[in-house]
Amino acid sequence: MCGIVAYIGLGASGGASGGTSGGALPVLLEGLKRLEYRGYDSAGVAVIGSDGRLNTCKAVGRVSVLEAAVARQGEAMAGSLGVAHTRWATHGKVTEANAHPHVGQAADGATIALVHNGTIENYAALRTLLEKKGHVFTSETDTEVLAKLIAEMYGRDLRQRDLGPGGGGASDERRGTGSRLERALRLALREVTGAYAVAAVCDAEPTTLVAARKGSPLIVGVADGAYVVASDGSAIVSHTSRAVTLEDGQVVRLRVGTNGKVEPLHTTDLDNVATSHEVSDLEFELEQIELGGYPHYMLKEIMEQPETLRTCLRGRVDTRDGRIVLGGLNALSRELVRAKRFVFTGQGTAYHAGLIGEYLMEDLAKLPSRATYASEFRYRNPLIEDGTVIVAVSQSGETADTMAALEEAKDRGALALGAVNVVGSTMSRETDAGVYLRVGPEIGVASTKAFVGQVAVLTMLSLFMGKRRVMSQADMQMYLEHLDRIPEHVASLVQQSEHIKDKTAEVVDRDNWLFLGRGYNYPVALEGALKLKEISYIHAEGMPAAEMKHGPIALIDEGMPVVFIATRGSQYDKVMSNIEEVRARGGRILAVATEGDTDIDRYSDAVFRVPDVPEALQPLLTVVPLQLLSYHAAVLRGHDVDKPRNLAKSVTVE
Ligand code: M6R
Repeated sequence: MCGIVAYIGLGASGGASGGTSGGALPVLLEGLKRLEYRGYDSAGVAVIGSDGRLNTCKAVGRVSVLEAAVARQGEAMAGSLGVAHTRWATHGKVTEANAHPHVGQAADGATIALVHNGTIENYAALRTLLEKKGHVFTSETDTEVLAKLIAEMYGRDLRQRDLGPGGGGASDERRGTGSRLERALRLALREVTGAYAVAAVCDAEPTTLVAARKGSPLIVGVADGAYVVASDGSAIVSHTSRAVTLEDGQVVRLRVGTNGKVEPLHTTDLDNVATSHEVSDLEFELEQIELGGYPHYMLKEIMEQPETLRTCLRGRVDTRDGRIVLGGLNALSRELVRAKRFVFTGQGTAYHAGLIGEYLMEDLAKLPSRATYASEFRYRNPLIEDGTVIVAVSQSGETADTMAALEEAKDRGALALGAVNVVGSTMSRETDAGVYLRVGPEIGVASTKAFVGQVAVLTMLSLFMGKRRVMSQADMQMYLEHLDRIPEHVASLVQQSEHIKDKTAEVVDRDNWLFLGRGYNYPVALEGALKLKEISYIHAEGMPAAEMKHGPIALIDEGMPVVFIATRGSQYDKVMSNIEEVRARGGRILAVATEGDTDIDRYSDAVFRVPDVPEALQPLLTVVPLQLLSYHAAVLRGHDVDKPRNLAKSVTVE
């Protein structure tokens, strides 16, 4: 949800161009392209040019449109210091005026450019105040309010007010080596409520870049003679593999000193007390975020699932010693043995994985469990009994709704676990312990490999708990043997892509679909429907197969596609009855069925087969044909699969 990239390199002295890789602009534009999956309705860039002026360029649409606009500005956009942004609209329509960077003018004429990810909740009151002080607004955004507030603070005599209680930052101010921009940013941020990751530059300080975060992610890549600030590692990894993950409430000042050298990065809190920071290795490689010959990230990510699953299970599924090894939970083994109930929380696809977690934990560990939308859990005054474990399920580890639920549960005394993909993300740091998905960066907006990773982690967690409570060693061994073979089963499933494409083509013109399943495959039906609607814009509903009779059956007419997850298991016969009911009303049946089940052919217009595994493990397989079906439907309908309309990869607003 919005991507930020900012750059300062050598040559940022009085606006002279230069830097480690030909100045700021190429780094900013490349970074924006890498971050485009976070938001892509408009984009913008501001650079302190070689003439010392702040030059801004914005465009509605993709980064490629901005790139063309920037090219038209020629030399004016050259420089070694700048900020850039790709937007997913929250406050105000998708217009050039609402695109970032936003600017504010200080009383002494200095101009500040700001990019922002997050939401300033008290922006309306601040806007009224700033208007009274003479600031003139040109956009509808909350970000412009913050830009003007920083400018307002910049224009004031701040020296006395901002001397913090101590630390290197305060000494900096006393020595007169601090930055007015940094000071103004701190003061402005003290006035705002909400979430933010921000980066700002000012034409009166053409050798300084400042940034800060609270609630939205921001990292600082440490390159040779340059710093690259970004929302995530994808915008940094081609320049450096070393980065600092900023903490909530931390402000960073990056500067080229008077000796022409890049100064060590300097961090403080909002009170100007110096803070520590750690430079660590980024957790992924450049090739993981490239298309690698695939037409879309979504297809690449579906196809790489056998490998990502192997990585997820490696070292954790121990078939030799008959156990699940989850190193991240070691420190909590005593608390986990005392656990009385589990709550799985997340949004979208992650919620669907959590729902499978609910079924798994009750079935395999006999622990009362429930899954809940994080957004609903947070605001319904939830009861957290002693012994409650909350599991935050998330690919990004930054989803605002899920974070809010996690905090609420922790405040009420729950033990907090994470099933998160992004290493070092807010959720991974705010939970008591967790199990990383280890599926690598997911770029496609439609989540695929992360879902399978989440389900795999929740399966292992349930087995881990089951073994400590009720499960026999024989059952444990049986599950481990099956789990170990899941990656090779997925490898055979993705081979069905062409068959699935052909069958999808027969029904892709239909605008209303149903997805039905029972038991473990009910959440898979929900996930199949979500996948189809978010990238193909076909209306689809998922529900328990039995629920159809209680109303939705009225929708079924001649040729309506109804996808059944009808694998062999305890509810197979009941699902077959539901198939009959749909057929009797003219529905067109697409069935996900177990290999060797030929009976189902008579009732179905298309069959996608999955290997026979225990019911608890079926979701790891049955979702794969549905991912491919959605992918092909979207491509056949001519949509941009990786950047579906109105969506963003990481939803960092509630
Ligand atoms: O990063 P998260 O897993 O927390 O994201 C949760 C949802 O926003 C996400 O799964 C969303 O539903 C995807 N578009 C699904 O494909």
